[in-house]
Amino acid sequence: MTTTDLSTTASADSESVDNRKNRSASITAGFRPGSFALRDAWFPVLQTVFIGRRPSLRVIHGRPIYLARENGVLVATEDSPRDRDRGRLRASEFTAGTGRYPVVERYGYAWVWYGDPANASPDLVPRVPHLPEAGGLPRHFHQNVIFDCSYELICENLLDLTHADFLHSWLTGDPLSEHDEITVESTSETVTMTRTAVGRPTPKIQRGLAKSDTQDACLVTMVHVRSGVCLLHGDFNPGMSVRMLHPANPETPGRTRTPVTYNVQHTTKLARTVFPFSTHIVGGQDNWAVRPQNPLYLDRSTDEKDMNSRFDAAGLRFRKVHQELVDRQRRGDYSYLADGDPGRDVTEQMRLERPR
Ligand SMILES: [Fe+2]
Repeated sequence: MTTTDLSTTASADSESVDNRKNRSASITAGFRPGSFALRDAWFPVLQTVFIGRRPSLRVIHGRPIYLARENGVLVATEDSPRDRDRGRLRASEFTAGTGRYPVVERYGYAWVWYGDPANASPDLVPRVPHLPEAGGLPRHFHQNVIFDCSYELICENLLDLTHADFLHSWLTGDPLSEHDEITVESTSETVTMTRTAVGRPTPKIQRGLAKSDTQDACLVTMVHVRSGVCLLHGDFNPGMSVRMLHPANPETPGRTRTPVTYNVQHTTKLARTVFPFSTHIVGGQDNWAVRPQNPLYLDRSTDEKDMNSRFDAAGLRFRKVHQELVDRQRRGDYSYLADGDPGRDVTEQMRLERPR
């Protein structure tokens, strides 16, 4: 596991702008978002509370997936029942010619395998320690957001936890604190950013519950690069612990679907109930920011080097891991390396045990 420590309390970054440009350009020179569909991964396509007898159509990398319950059994198929009635059957390599994708029910989601069905092991479903494995959360804890950009841009946006200071400060707090530290860790499959801020002014909306003018915040984003599955934890102490599964399902390079689930802890029943409804405000603010960025983000044709600061370390690491996965898959290697087991326990890394 590689680690970078970035303390914002350190002295001003003395590295020149040109140096920074050249260094980041060499990291990201081969990064081509939206141009390669990484495969052999489980995608949390839809929350199971929304799946019934009538099929729901979802898309991963332009490929249709119909989800339904047939006699109570969850199925993911390449065709709608109407297509099947008309004798039109898709039966691609993604279903080994059967028309049915491998599917697993876990954490309240239907996880569909995108890749070679022969490699679909349930052990490769990402571990989500902050959601009940058997599902069962109230229906409205599950929400759905559409972003008009590629999944790679959503992942980078979530890894840039400082963006919340500007876009969602009403909810998560502003950048002023006594101490603010950012750590980036990565494996061959994941990038994790941890931000620890001490003595932040409590945002107005949290003040009634936190009963304190300042709070400590520990914010963690873990991104599974192959699939865009993002685990989020915002621990505001005193205050609530916001735990989310935030998929970034790549529908097309211009559209990402996020069937999000909230499991807020350490707060009142009312706050826990109301919080998921913030999705559409927060999601709208993010889409406002990412939508106009997407055409430029996807266009890697120019030699114009990106401007990066040390706060972009997690985003740069994402590009590096992404590029390495693409390179391996271009060579026909779809395997998971020993350090990249998606099923490993990440309770500690997600900072889910709160010291009280
Ligand atoms: Fe955001």
